[in-house]
Amino acid sequence: MIEQIELTKRFNKIDPQSINDFLEFDGYKVFKKVLTMNSNEIINEIALSKITGRGGAGFPVSIKMSSFANETGVKYIVCNADEGEPGNFKDRYLMEKDPHQVIEGILISAYSTGASKGFIYIRGEYSKSIDIIRHSIKEAYKNNYLGDNILGSNFSFELEIRRGAGAYICGEEFALIESIEGKPGRTRVKPPFPTQQGVFNKPTLINNVETFCNLPFILRIGGNEYSKIGSEYATGTKLISLTGNVNNKGLYEVPYGRTIREVIEILGGGVKDNKEIGMVQLGGACGAIIPESLLDMDIDNEKFAIFDSKMGAGAIIVMDESFDLFDILLKNMEFFQHETCGKCMPCREGHIQVLNLIKKFVRYSATKDDYLSLESLANVIHETTLCGLGQTSMTSILSTIKFFQEEYQQRIRESLFKEGY
Ligand SMILES: Cc1cc2nc3c(=O)[nH]c(=O)nc-3n(C[C@H](O)[C@H](O)[C@H](O)COP(=O)(O)O)c2cc1C
Repeated sequence: MIEQIELTKRFNKIDPQSINDFLEFDGYKVFKKVLTMNSNEIINEIALSKITGRGGAGFPVSIKMSSFANETGVKYIVCNADEGEPGNFKDRYLMEKDPHQVIEGILISAYSTGASKGFIYIRGEYSKSIDIIRHSIKEAYKNNYLGDNILGSNFSFELEIRRGAGAYICGEEFALIESIEGKPGRTRVKPPFPTQQGVFNKPTLINNVETFCNLPFILRIGGNEYSKIGSEYATGTKLISLTGNVNNKGLYEVPYGRTIREVIEILGGGVKDNKEIGMVQLGGACGAIIPESLLDMDIDNEKFAIFDSKMGAGAIIVMDESFDLFDILLKNMEFFQHETCGKCMPCREGHIQVLNLIKKFVRYSATKDDYLSLESLANVIHETTLCGLGQTSMTSILSTIKFFQEEYQQRIRESLFKEGY
């Protein structure tokens, strides 16, 4: 069975607009405890928990925190709530159903690393999340959880919202930093990393909404206990945005280590209309597309290496047997071609060429040479682009070349007999 609910435990049980409801449900209790600890003690607990970031890349949280804590002078915390990856809606739920949990996580991070100012960068289309977080920030200031000398301590922290610019790339950390600075969202060459030189060239710690929400949980039960939840390689719980042709679409919190099939069948109630599963896309548009035969794989970033992919932000998109692989790839590539920031050539030009090749498969006019060009171009984009957009946008192509080879060959054969349109 799938058990363990922590990040979602207050969902629908409290009024998200009421700080009093949050306080009654143990809210800010862990932050008060943390105020009696020092930076090393807190970061050590987070290291023991072995938590990795929930925004997609899966980087160890404590390593980034300790390198940021070592920086001096003005430094910023950024909560990445851009959530532009198709199929994902977990951060929206966290902000709209338990906004003070997000603020509590940011406060723990800021206090332990010595940051004095923070931004929550929220996707522009998320008007409701913006309203709720704005209200919660006001309440937190009123109750001295934000502002000067928080709860009588020496710790002061300012927090404000930045509304996203409506571009997927603005979730990428450097594009996000540029956007906060008022520039168009484009990545930067690294190093230096954001923890050294981020917003307004000051050290900046960027984490995902779900990552911050895990911090009160870790500090409440202790890093060691937390590390026992999940699997050998991935600890804690993961929020899964389950969509597509399943009976029960929705947001689910599961410990790492459960299988994809368990999530689809137990929580999702299986495929609609008793159809068979045709394929499943993991993570979002930037994730692998896998066949039904691989669904017994654990949800775990390390194990997902077999798909040359990660769990990403945690979307699972189920497609029944009636879906055409190339229609899905077309939608993916249209998305990336539209969303590339255009800064680096392989990403700017490459997506146009890949899109044209995929259109040939959709139109039954693809040749063996088109297939070879697609494979080689996808590898070039994956290996040579500047940022994570192009490094992951080809995952759907490369994974289907690996797992759906027969569909490619079949389409090339059919193209010999069917007229393109
Ligand atoms: C194109 C692109 C879009 C991204 N969008 C998001 C996003 O919406 N939210 C997010 O937290 N991370 C996003 N990321 C990952 C961030 O760059 C960064 O790794 C993350 O915010 C770090 O937080 P974490 O360590 O807590 O996961 C994106 C990366 C890329 C390349």
